[in-house]
Amino acid sequence: MIDLGIIGGTGFYKFFDRAQELSVSTEYGDPSSPVTIAEWGGKTIGFLPRHGRNHQYLPHRVPYTANVAALRDLGAEQILGFNVVGSLSPEVGKGHFVLIDQFIDLTWGRDWSVFDRPGGAHADAAEPYCRRLRRQAIDSLAGSSEVVHPRATAVVINGPRFQTKAESKLYHSWGADVINMTQSTEASVARELELCYVNLSYCTDYGVISEDIAPESQDPPVVHRDVVAQFQRNLHRVEPMVRAVVEALKDDPKCRCRNALEGCWVQH
Ligand code: ADE
Repeated sequence: MIDLGIIGGTGFYKFFDRAQELSVSTEYGDPSSPVTIAEWGGKTIGFLPRHGRNHQYLPHRVPYTANVAALRDLGAEQILGFNVVGSLSPEVGKGHFVLIDQFIDLTWGRDWSVFDRPGGAHADAAEPYCRRLRRQAIDSLAGSSEVVHPRATAVVINGPRFQTKAESKLYHSWGADVINMTQSTEASVARELELCYVNLSYCTDYGVISEDIAPESQDPPVVHRDVVAQFQRNLHRVEPMVRAVVEALKDDPKCRCRNALEGCWVQH
């Protein structure tokens, strides 16, 4: 019944003012919250706040498999995952938008795969985001007055604590552009469920990188309250960007993501 799912990140707990609310349960358990459903941008959209409406689920405890499966069970074959990220690069400033295309996954011990029984598949992750949706999202933001980085490598840490200065320096030396705590997990689960998944992120902070890397950073600590406040102060800028992407995303049942596990299953 829904054409597209949106998963909102930190600070992004509600999307529609008036919406139908559906409590769903999946074969992987319950998602973070009921799904709100509304007509928007010519599509029927299901919105799910990744961390729950009251940010009850910290990144290492988010029910990732149930969240993605809930949107799939409602009919979505395409998902837009929205995130806030910290910058690890002098090029990515606070307030910039980023479409992550690669990640370095440092997470562990979380709900990260639908394959936790004997058997299963080794999904391909060379390009972990849907190429087709990424192209559409990039094109849809091309005329925007915002700064948009069409590609970025995210290092994804387990959290819930933020990073040390030494860790940030290391990740910067690896070539990571941004830092986050959820992206790799959600994108991997979507790939395992053969869904098209694309990311749009908003940069809220300088990820503890020091002034020698990003002169604007003034070496600040990262505090959750500031990340949320910085995002919510800018919701009026985020919403048109999300709208532009959502309006542009077009389904294609022949997309390679829909057949992503071909050749990946283990023999048993
Ligand atoms: N999300 C937003 N800012 C972050 C940071 N600095 N580190 C990890 N995740 C983040």
